[in-house]
Amino acid sequence: MSAATIAIASDHGGYDLKQLLIDDLKAKGHEVLDLGTNGPDSVDYPDYADLMAAAIKGGKAGCGILLCGTGIGISIAANRHPELRAALVHDALTARLSRLHNDANVIVMGGRILGIELAKDCLDVFLKTEFEGGRHARRVAKMSHAG
Ligand code: RB5
Repeated sequence: MSAATIAIASDHGGYDLKQLLIDDLKAKGHEVLDLGTNGPDSVDYPDYADLMAAAIKGGKAGCGILLCGTGIGISIAANRHPELRAALVHDALTARLSRLHNDANVIVMGGRILGIELAKDCLDVFLKTEFEGGRHARRVAKMSHAG
């Protein structure tokens, strides 16, 4: 995964984890584009998946991080956008495989599921792992065609 700007967005269920991950990413020298939400008030996670899709499609970020309470709702919403391959991960192994096999460009985590150290570990692995290509490229290509 390239070192381009990393976009991040969450609903209220992922807000606390979002803020912690932003601090960690900035401390490590990454450029971060925060798409909200900007506080703990209740919001609708599909809106933040839409903002992520616009940021990736518009070239404002090379990859993204999406967070909601479980990670489930926002990953479903994200994968309705053809420009996103959003992977809900729970540990370093699923984070690594989401890059190796699926060329995921968005990592999704549950703010009410993962602690900060596990989330940072997932994110570190996601950012440093390159797509394996080969047979996986054929499969990823099949998901890029509409219909
Ligand atoms: C919000 O309460 C919660 O439903 C949301 O963050 C997420 O977990 C949905 O999948």
